[in-house]
Amino acid sequence: MAITSTQQTVAVQSAGAAGVTIKPIPAALGAEIICGDVRALDERQTQVTKQAWLDHLVLLFRGQSLTDDELVAFAQRFGKLSHPVAGHQLHGNVKTFQHPHVNVVSNVIENGVPIGTLGDGEAMWHTDFSFEEVPYAATLLHSLEIPADGSGDTGFINMYLAYETLPRDLRERISGLTMKQDASYNSAGMLRRGYQEVTDVRVSPGPVHPIVRTHTETGRNCLYLGRRNFAYINGVSVDESEQLLNALWAHAEQTSLQWHHQWRVGDILVWDNRCTMHHRDAFDPTARRIMHKTMTEGDRPHFQPHADDSAKHARGCLHAAAH
Ligand SMILES: [Fe+2]
Repeated sequence: MAITSTQQTVAVQSAGAAGVTIKPIPAALGAEIICGDVRALDERQTQVTKQAWLDHLVLLFRGQSLTDDELVAFAQRFGKLSHPVAGHQLHGNVKTFQHPHVNVVSNVIENGVPIGTLGDGEAMWHTDFSFEEVPYAATLLHSLEIPADGSGDTGFINMYLAYETLPRDLRERISGLTMKQDASYNSAGMLRRGYQEVTDVRVSPGPVHPIVRTHTETGRNCLYLGRRNFAYINGVSVDESEQLLNALWAHAEQTSLQWHHQWRVGDILVWDNRCTMHHRDAFDPTARRIMHKTMTEGDRPHFQPHADDSAKHARGCLHAAAH
Protein backbone atom coordinates (compact mmCIF):
# COMPACT_ATOMS: atom_id res chain seq x y z
CA MET A 1 0.00 0.00 0.00
CA ALA A 2 1.55 3.30 -1.05
CA ILE A 3 1.52 6.14 1.45
CA THR A 4 -0.48 9.21 0.41
CA SER A 5 0.26 12.75 1.46
CA THR A 6 -3.00 12.88 3.39
CA GLN A 7 -1.76 10.01 5.56
CA GLN A 8 1.63 11.48 6.20
CA THR A 9 2.99 12.12 9.62
CA VAL A 10 6.15 14.10 9.90
CA ALA A 11 9.05 11.73 10.29
CA VAL A 12 11.80 14.31 10.23
CA GLN A 13 11.70 18.07 10.27
CA SER A 14 14.74 20.13 9.52
CA ALA A 15 15.18 23.85 9.21
CA GLY A 16 17.22 24.29 6.03
CA ALA A 17 17.39 28.08 6.25
CA ALA A 18 15.59 30.81 8.13
CA GLY A 19 12.01 30.72 6.89
CA VAL A 20 12.31 27.36 5.09
CA THR A 21 11.37 24.06 6.72
CA ILE A 22 11.92 20.76 4.92
CA LYS A 23 9.48 17.97 5.92
CA PRO A 24 10.43 14.68 4.24
CA ILE A 25 7.39 12.62 3.23
CA PRO A 26 7.49 9.28 5.13
CA ALA A 27 7.64 7.29 1.91
CA ALA A 28 10.27 6.46 -0.68
CA LEU A 29 10.63 10.04 -1.89
CA GLY A 30 9.28 13.57 -1.56
CA ALA A 31 9.34 16.48 0.90
CA GLU A 32 6.99 19.29 1.78
CA ILE A 33 8.61 22.71 1.87
CA ILE A 34 7.06 25.15 4.32
CA CYS A 35 8.21 28.60 3.35
CA GLY A 36 5.16 30.85 2.96
CA ASP A 37 4.81 32.58 -0.39
CA VAL A 38 7.32 31.05 -2.85
CA ARG A 39 7.53 34.38 -4.69
CA ALA A 40 9.33 35.84 -1.67
CA LEU A 41 12.17 33.27 -1.40
CA ASP A 42 15.54 35.00 -1.15
CA GLU A 43 18.80 33.72 -2.64
CA ARG A 44 19.82 31.61 0.37
CA GLN A 45 16.32 30.14 0.71
CA THR A 46 16.33 29.33 -3.00
CA GLN A 47 19.66 27.47 -2.64
CA VAL A 48 18.28 25.41 0.24
CA THR A 49 15.10 24.65 -1.69
CA LYS A 50 17.02 23.59 -4.80
CA GLN A 51 19.21 21.29 -2.67
CA ALA A 52 16.10 19.82 -1.03
CA TRP A 53 14.80 19.04 -4.53
CA LEU A 54 17.99 17.15 -5.41
CA ASP A 55 17.83 15.35 -2.04
CA HIS A 56 14.12 14.43 -2.05
CA LEU A 57 13.32 14.29 -5.82
CA VAL A 58 9.81 15.81 -5.49
CA LEU A 59 8.85 18.93 -3.54
CA LEU A 60 5.38 19.98 -2.41
CA PHE A 61 4.47 23.63 -1.74
CA ARG A 62 0.98 24.24 -0.31
CA GLY A 63 -1.24 27.33 -0.52
CA GLN A 64 0.31 29.11 -3.49
CA SER A 65 -1.49 31.33 -5.99
CA LEU A 66 0.78 32.15 -8.92
CA THR A 67 0.09 33.73 -12.28
CA ASP A 68 1.69 32.05 -15.31
CA ASP A 69 4.52 34.61 -15.30
CA GLU A 70 5.11 33.96 -11.58
CA LEU A 71 5.10 30.17 -12.09
CA VAL A 72 7.69 30.56 -14.85
CA ALA A 73 9.78 32.82 -12.59
CA PHE A 74 9.59 30.22 -9.79
CA ALA A 75 10.69 27.47 -12.20
CA GLN A 76 13.86 29.40 -12.95
CA ARG A 77 14.96 28.92 -9.34
CA PHE A 78 15.44 25.22 -10.28
CA GLY A 79 17.16 25.68 -13.63
CA LYS A 80 17.09 27.35 -17.01
CA LEU A 81 13.63 27.64 -18.54
CA SER A 82 12.82 25.10 -21.27
CA HIS A 83 11.98 26.15 -24.80
CA PRO A 84 8.32 27.02 -25.49
CA VAL A 85 5.79 24.20 -25.79
CA ALA A 86 5.90 22.92 -29.38
CA GLY A 87 2.82 21.99 -31.37
CA HIS A 88 4.03 18.46 -32.15
CA GLN A 89 4.08 17.63 -28.42
CA LEU A 90 0.32 18.01 -28.27
CA HIS A 91 -2.39 15.76 -29.59
CA GLY A 92 -5.74 16.37 -31.20
CA ASN A 93 -7.47 19.72 -31.20
CA VAL A 94 -6.33 21.69 -28.16
CA LYS A 95 -6.81 25.41 -27.62
CA THR A 96 -3.64 27.48 -28.06
CA PHE A 97 -2.06 28.14 -24.68
CA GLN A 98 -1.93 31.74 -23.47
CA HIS A 99 1.66 31.64 -22.20
CA PRO A 100 4.44 30.23 -24.42
CA HIS A 101 6.10 28.41 -21.48
CA VAL A 102 2.96 27.15 -19.71
CA ASN A 103 1.12 24.01 -20.76
CA VAL A 104 -2.45 23.60 -19.50
CA VAL A 105 -3.26 20.09 -18.21
CA SER A 106 -7.04 19.85 -18.04
CA ASN A 107 -10.19 17.97 -19.01
CA VAL A 108 -12.22 21.19 -19.36
CA ILE A 109 -13.84 21.83 -22.76
CA GLU A 110 -14.90 25.36 -23.72
CA ASN A 111 -16.99 25.95 -26.84
CA GLY A 112 -16.22 22.42 -27.98
CA VAL A 113 -12.44 22.85 -27.70
CA PRO A 114 -10.31 21.31 -24.90
CA ILE A 115 -8.41 24.02 -22.99
CA GLY A 116 -5.64 21.56 -22.11
CA THR A 117 -4.12 18.11 -22.53
CA LEU A 118 -4.49 14.61 -21.04
CA GLY A 119 -8.28 14.58 -20.49
CA ASP A 120 -9.66 12.76 -17.42
CA GLY A 121 -8.21 9.26 -17.86
CA GLU A 122 -5.26 7.54 -16.31
CA ALA A 123 -1.81 8.85 -17.29
CA MET A 124 0.47 5.81 -17.27
CA TRP A 125 3.79 5.76 -15.43
CA HIS A 126 6.33 7.83 -17.36
CA THR A 127 8.97 10.51 -17.11
CA ASP A 128 8.39 13.73 -19.03
CA PHE A 129 9.82 14.10 -22.52
CA SER A 130 11.94 10.94 -22.48
CA PHE A 131 10.95 10.77 -26.15
CA GLU A 132 13.22 13.72 -26.92
CA GLU A 133 17.02 13.66 -27.36
CA VAL A 134 17.41 16.16 -24.51
CA PRO A 135 14.53 15.68 -22.03
CA TYR A 136 13.55 18.33 -19.50
CA ALA A 137 14.82 18.32 -15.90
CA ALA A 138 12.18 19.86 -13.60
CA THR A 139 8.44 19.82 -14.09
CA LEU A 140 6.36 22.27 -12.02
CA LEU A 141 2.63 21.60 -11.76
CA HIS A 142 0.32 24.15 -10.08
CA SER A 143 -3.27 23.19 -9.25
CA LEU A 144 -5.93 25.81 -9.98
CA GLU A 145 -9.07 23.61 -9.90
CA ILE A 146 -9.47 20.03 -8.68
CA PRO A 147 -12.43 17.63 -8.45
CA ALA A 148 -14.46 18.01 -5.23
CA ASP A 149 -13.84 14.37 -4.31
CA GLY A 150 -10.07 14.93 -4.47
CA SER A 151 -9.56 12.29 -7.15
CA GLY A 152 -6.78 12.48 -9.72
CA ASP A 153 -3.79 11.77 -7.44
CA THR A 154 -0.30 12.03 -8.88
CA GLY A 155 2.06 9.20 -7.90
CA PHE A 156 5.85 9.14 -8.04
CA ILE A 157 8.55 6.45 -8.11
CA ASN A 158 12.08 6.94 -6.76
CA MET A 159 14.27 5.67 -9.60
CA TYR A 160 17.52 5.79 -7.57
CA LEU A 161 15.86 3.36 -5.22
CA ALA A 162 14.53 1.27 -8.10
CA TYR A 163 18.08 0.92 -9.36
CA GLU A 164 19.68 0.26 -5.97
CA THR A 165 17.18 -2.50 -5.16
CA LEU A 166 17.39 -4.36 -8.48
CA PRO A 167 18.46 -8.01 -8.21
CA ARG A 168 22.21 -8.15 -8.87
CA ASP A 169 21.91 -10.24 -12.06
CA LEU A 170 19.40 -7.84 -13.58
CA ARG A 171 21.48 -4.84 -12.63
CA GLU A 172 24.56 -6.35 -14.26
CA ARG A 173 22.54 -7.37 -17.33
CA ILE A 174 21.41 -3.82 -18.11
CA SER A 175 24.69 -2.05 -17.35
CA GLY A 176 25.65 -0.10 -20.46
CA LEU A 177 22.53 -1.09 -22.44
CA THR A 178 20.47 1.49 -24.28
CA MET A 179 16.78 1.73 -25.02
CA LYS A 180 14.75 3.38 -27.74
CA GLN A 181 12.08 5.62 -26.26
CA ASP A 182 9.01 5.71 -28.47
CA ALA A 183 7.89 9.21 -29.44
CA SER A 184 4.58 8.30 -31.06
CA TYR A 185 2.19 8.26 -28.09
CA ASN A 186 1.60 10.45 -25.04
CA SER A 187 1.21 9.16 -21.48
CA ALA A 188 -2.57 8.86 -21.92
CA GLY A 189 -1.98 6.49 -24.85
CA MET A 190 -2.99 9.05 -27.49
CA LEU A 191 -1.14 9.28 -30.80
CA ARG A 192 0.74 12.59 -31.08
CA ARG A 193 0.18 14.95 -33.96
CA GLY A 194 2.12 13.94 -37.07
CA TYR A 195 2.93 10.35 -35.89
CA GLN A 196 1.76 6.99 -37.20
CA GLU A 197 0.71 3.91 -35.24
CA VAL A 198 3.67 1.72 -34.23
CA THR A 199 3.82 -1.72 -35.85
CA ASP A 200 7.51 -2.56 -35.16
CA VAL A 201 9.22 -1.27 -32.01
CA ARG A 202 12.65 -1.69 -33.62
CA VAL A 203 12.00 1.00 -36.23
CA SER A 204 9.52 3.31 -34.49
CA PRO A 205 10.62 6.95 -34.06
CA GLY A 206 12.33 8.04 -30.85
CA PRO A 207 15.72 8.77 -29.27
CA VAL A 208 18.16 6.22 -27.82
CA HIS A 209 18.88 6.68 -24.11
CA PRO A 210 20.85 4.65 -21.54
CA ILE A 211 18.73 2.41 -19.28
CA VAL A 212 20.89 3.37 -16.31
CA ARG A 213 21.27 7.14 -16.17
CA THR A 214 23.85 9.11 -14.22
CA HIS A 215 22.25 12.21 -12.74
CA THR A 216 24.33 15.22 -13.76
CA GLU A 217 23.85 17.16 -10.53
CA THR A 218 23.90 14.39 -7.89
CA GLY A 219 26.37 12.10 -9.71
CA ARG A 220 24.31 9.00 -8.74
CA ASN A 221 22.95 6.31 -11.04
CA CYS A 222 19.26 5.57 -11.40
CA LEU A 223 16.95 3.58 -13.69
CA TYR A 224 15.73 5.59 -16.66
CA LEU A 225 12.76 3.76 -18.17
CA GLY A 226 10.82 6.62 -19.78
CA ARG A 227 7.59 4.87 -20.65
CA ARG A 228 6.67 1.25 -21.20
CA ASN A 229 4.63 1.16 -24.41
CA PHE A 230 6.64 0.56 -27.58
CA ALA A 231 10.02 0.82 -25.84
CA TYR A 232 12.79 -1.38 -27.23
CA ILE A 233 16.16 -2.44 -25.79
CA ASN A 234 18.74 -2.15 -28.54
CA GLY A 235 20.87 -5.07 -29.68
CA VAL A 236 18.59 -7.91 -28.53
CA SER A 237 15.58 -9.68 -30.04
CA VAL A 238 12.15 -8.16 -29.55
CA ASP A 239 11.24 -11.12 -27.29
CA GLU A 240 14.29 -10.61 -25.09
CA SER A 241 13.67 -6.87 -24.99
CA GLU A 242 10.09 -7.46 -23.85
CA GLN A 243 11.20 -9.90 -21.14
CA LEU A 244 13.84 -7.52 -19.81
CA LEU A 245 11.51 -4.54 -19.90
CA ASN A 246 8.76 -6.49 -18.12
CA ALA A 247 11.21 -7.46 -15.36
CA LEU A 248 12.46 -3.88 -14.96
CA TRP A 249 8.96 -2.38 -14.90
CA ALA A 250 7.62 -5.00 -12.46
CA HIS A 251 10.47 -4.07 -10.12
CA ALA A 252 10.09 -0.30 -10.53
CA GLU A 253 6.32 -0.31 -9.96
CA GLN A 254 6.53 -1.82 -6.47
CA THR A 255 4.44 0.31 -4.12
CA SER A 256 7.32 0.49 -1.63
CA LEU A 257 9.14 2.74 -4.12
CA GLN A 258 6.20 5.13 -4.49
CA TRP A 259 4.54 8.18 -3.01
CA HIS A 260 1.07 9.37 -4.08
CA HIS A 261 -0.04 12.96 -3.67
CA GLN A 262 -3.66 13.98 -3.23
CA TRP A 263 -4.04 17.50 -4.58
CA ARG A 264 -5.49 20.61 -2.99
CA VAL A 265 -6.07 23.87 -4.84
CA GLY A 266 -2.94 26.03 -4.56
CA ASP A 267 -0.46 23.14 -4.47
CA ILE A 268 2.70 23.22 -6.53
CA LEU A 269 4.68 20.02 -7.10
CA VAL A 270 8.22 20.23 -8.47
CA TRP A 271 9.66 16.93 -9.62
CA ASP A 272 12.95 15.82 -11.15
CA ASN A 273 12.37 13.91 -14.39
CA ARG A 274 15.93 12.60 -14.40
CA CYS A 275 15.35 10.32 -11.41
CA THR A 276 11.58 9.86 -10.97
CA MET A 277 8.57 8.56 -12.85
CA HIS A 278 5.00 9.77 -12.30
CA HIS A 279 1.46 8.58 -12.85
CA ARG A 280 -1.98 10.19 -12.67
CA ASP A 281 -5.13 8.41 -11.56
CA ALA A 282 -8.26 8.80 -13.63
CA PHE A 283 -10.84 11.14 -12.10
CA ASP A 284 -14.54 12.02 -12.29
CA PRO A 285 -15.09 13.09 -15.93
CA THR A 286 -17.90 15.44 -14.89
CA ALA A 287 -15.58 17.37 -12.54
CA ARG A 288 -13.24 20.19 -13.59
CA ARG A 289 -9.52 19.82 -13.10
CA ILE A 290 -7.12 22.54 -14.25
CA MET A 291 -3.35 22.46 -13.74
CA HIS A 292 -0.69 24.75 -15.18
CA LYS A 293 2.68 23.22 -15.99
CA THR A 294 6.10 24.54 -16.88
CA MET A 295 9.51 22.88 -17.18
CA THR A 296 13.23 23.53 -17.02
CA GLU A 297 15.87 22.54 -19.52
CA GLY A 298 17.63 19.21 -18.99
CA ASP A 299 20.64 17.49 -20.51
CA ARG A 300 21.27 14.49 -22.77
CA PRO A 301 21.02 11.32 -20.63
CA HIS A 302 24.38 9.58 -20.12
CA PHE A 303 25.74 6.62 -18.15
CA GLN A 304 28.89 6.73 -16.01
CA PRO A 305 29.57 3.21 -14.61
CA HIS A 306 31.99 4.56 -11.99
CA ALA A 307 29.07 6.37 -10.36
CA ASP A 308 28.18 2.99 -8.79
CA ASP A 309 31.36 3.23 -6.72
CA SER A 310 30.18 6.29 -4.80
CA ALA A 311 27.80 6.28 -1.86
CA LYS A 312 24.10 5.77 -2.50
CA HIS A 313 21.78 8.72 -2.88
CA ALA A 314 20.29 9.71 0.49
CA ARG A 315 16.80 8.58 -0.66
CA GLY A 316 18.29 5.54 -2.42
CA CYS A 317 17.67 3.50 0.73
CA LEU A 318 14.20 2.38 1.75
CA HIS A 319 12.56 4.72 4.24
CA ALA A 320 11.67 2.85 7.40
CA ALA A 321 8.31 4.60 7.66
CA ALA A 322 7.27 3.27 4.25
CA HIS A 323 6.95 -0.32 5.53
FE1 LIG B 1 3.98 13.78 -17.24
